[in-house]
Amino acid sequence: MTTSTLPSSVRIVEVGPRDGLQNEKQVVPADVKVELIRRLADAGLKTIEATSFVSPKWVPQMGDNTEVLTRVLTQPAPGVAYPVLTPNLKGFEAALAAGAKEVAVFGAASESFSQKNINCSIAESLARFRPVTEAARAAGVRVRGYISCVVGCPYEGAVAPHKVAEVAATLMEMGCYEISLGDTIGSGNPASVRRMLETVARSVPVEKLAGHYHDTYGMAAANVAASLEMGVAVFDASVGGLGGCPYAAGASGNVATEDLVWLLHGMGIATGIDLDRLVDTAAWISAQLGREPASRVARAVLAKRAQARSAN
Ligand code: HMG
Ligand code: MG
Repeated sequence: MTTSTLPSSVRIVEVGPRDGLQNEKQVVPADVKVELIRRLADAGLKTIEATSFVSPKWVPQMGDNTEVLTRVLTQPAPGVAYPVLTPNLKGFEAALAAGAKEVAVFGAASESFSQKNINCSIAESLARFRPVTEAARAAGVRVRGYISCVVGCPYEGAVAPHKVAEVAATLMEMGCYEISLGDTIGSGNPASVRRMLETVARSVPVEKLAGHYHDTYGMAAANVAASLEMGVAVFDASVGGLGGCPYAAGASGNVATEDLVWLLHGMGIATGIDLDRLVDTAAWISAQLGREPASRVARAVLAKRAQARSAN
């Protein structure tokens, strides 16, 4: 495939405030979350997943969902969408009450992961999502669909691409506007991701697919590059490489947003994001968490800045 088939621009869905912070041992104060979301919008992110309306008994880190979303929506940045996760009607109603205009349902291609993550089978989860999509349509709220374990499952190993395609087709039929394909444990590589995308794209147009690649084994950027060649032009990423998944032991964060932006800009693909501001934000949230940014690009940019300062 030649580079002329690559997209000229990519939409990045920033998931750090949700996928990142849901997995921090410490509960991050709402003030910090709201400030992180503000800084991400300043850096040019146009879609920022703000929080999740899940059970606080399951994920206490997101227990301040109503406060965070309400405060963010009090002063929304122009043209920025702030989707939130909603696993069921109860979560959807709470999100709607807090002002959500976009939500996401999240299922899995592996039965064991579905049970561990949302306490039900794949079929039961799809039955729970249907009333959410119906209520969302009635309220004029957009719904995105996530699928976890699209190439590998922490409990079952390799996942067959046709299982992903089946769940993706059902989510589309329910009215999801986009399907985000989650390599939850980052076990994919360009070959397995390509095989999965080839199969899924027979059921769902590739324009409706997004890549959500965790970087556990350092393959996330390679998986993005393979997906770009397959025509995928939407990717989820987490500033500073924050995060993981509370129900996938050992899973590390998503591809870092700054690594993704570096890759795309280097390939001549526009994102609308200011890399310097993004690196500042990665450094800021990492400092709030008491550590250095995990991403290679943030570390490299910060080291280069420090070198330039000491040379002056
Ligand atoms: P359950 O226990 O089966 O639910 O949990 P239930 O309906 O039997 O209700 C039990 C209790 O939870 C009740 O309260 C409900 O009111 C309450 P009680 O009567 O015991 O006091 N409850 C809720 N409370 C607040 N918000 C709600 C809600 N629903 C029920 N929405 C449930 C089922 C789905 C709620 C639970 O399993 C859960 O919250 N799971 C969340 C798991 C999660 O957040 N995982 C991380 C996000 S997914 C992810 O990271 C993957 C992704 O990034 C893609 C990838 O990387 O693969 C998206
Ligand atoms: Mg994830």
